[in-house]
Amino acid sequence: MACTVCHAGAQRKEAAGFPPVSQCRVCHKDYAAAIPSRRVYQLPDFVFFSHASHVKAECRSCHGDVWEQEKVTVFRMPKMKECVDCHKERHAPEQCNTCHELGQ
Ligand code: HEC
Ligand code: HEC
Ligand code: HEC
Ligand code: HEC
Ligand code: HEC
Repeated sequence: MACTVCHAGAQRKEAAGFPPVSQCRVCHKDYAAAIPSRRVYQLPDFVFFSHASHVKAECRSCHGDVWEQEKVTVFRMPKMKECVDCHKERHAPEQCNTCHELGQ
């Protein structure tokens, strides 16, 4: 399935989002587990990030090959260096206030 079948926000919102359990019950009638069971990728509050700004990057460039992971594990929890390195490489903005609100 395409990633965005279940993470519909990933192309147009800040958060990729999670599918509602009702979506699983179409095929798994008794599915009852909570979604998400845990959070894996989570940035501190002082960082701006939006999936909508990254539609040109593939999901795998930040999350690895999810289909190869029994449980989604941190592939490359974006540390500042990784964000900035990619921004340099792809000529995206690099000023501090691209990702942080100044004066806090
Ligand atoms: C369109 C039908 C469909 C939908 C919707 C669907 N699944 Fe599945 N799911 C399947 C099928 C078919 C398999 C078996 C795949 C196989 O054996 O290769 C499966 C396998 C699984 C398994 C592995 C079960 C095992 O014993 O290994 C899990 C866990 C699972 N689905 C969870 C979910 C969750 C969570 C959702 C909702 C986000 C979901 N599925 C939505 C059809 C669906
Ligand atoms: C069938 C629906 C479904 C599809 C398709 C799907 N996912 Fe997910 N994804 C889930 C569910 C459900 C969870 C939460 C799992 C849990 O909490 O145990 C999840 C969790 C994740 C997480 C962890 C998020 C976090 O921080 O907690 C990432 C990253 C992710 N998916 C990326 C992807 C990518 C990339 C693809 C495509 C290659 C993809 N997913 C395809 C249903 C799906
Ligand atoms: C440029 C790197 C990058 C790309 C590309 C990317 N993500 Fe993410 N993703 C992140 C970061 C960083 C977080 C944590 C965001 C936060 O904590 O605010 C995240 C969080 C998530 C989450 C957890 C919860 C949420 O609602 O945000 C899911 C699910 C997810 N991504 C799926 C995807 C899918 C599917 C794609 C491709 C369509 C994708 N991501 C592309 C970096 C990326
Ligand atoms: C895979 C490469 C890549 C990674 C990794 C990446 N970015 Fe980006 N980011 C880009 C590109 C390319 C753009 C410009 C997109 C455009 O203009 O269409 C961008 C744009 C942005 C923007 C919007 C800037 C603006 O002024 O429009 C923010 C904010 C941002 N990224 C934050 C982050 C943060 C925070 C991280 C790390 C958690 C991160 N990015 C990781 C490639 C990346
Ligand atoms: C492309 C996004 C991006 C840009 C540009 C950026 N940062 Fe960050 N920054 C992050 C992310 C993501 C984190 C949180 C992860 C981490 O600590 O590596 C962070 C964390 C930090 C922290 C906290 C470090 C810690 O150890 O707790 C400071 C301070 C900081 N940034 C300052 C700056 C300054 C100063 C600039 C400009 C020179 C800057 N940042 C530019 C993404 C960015």
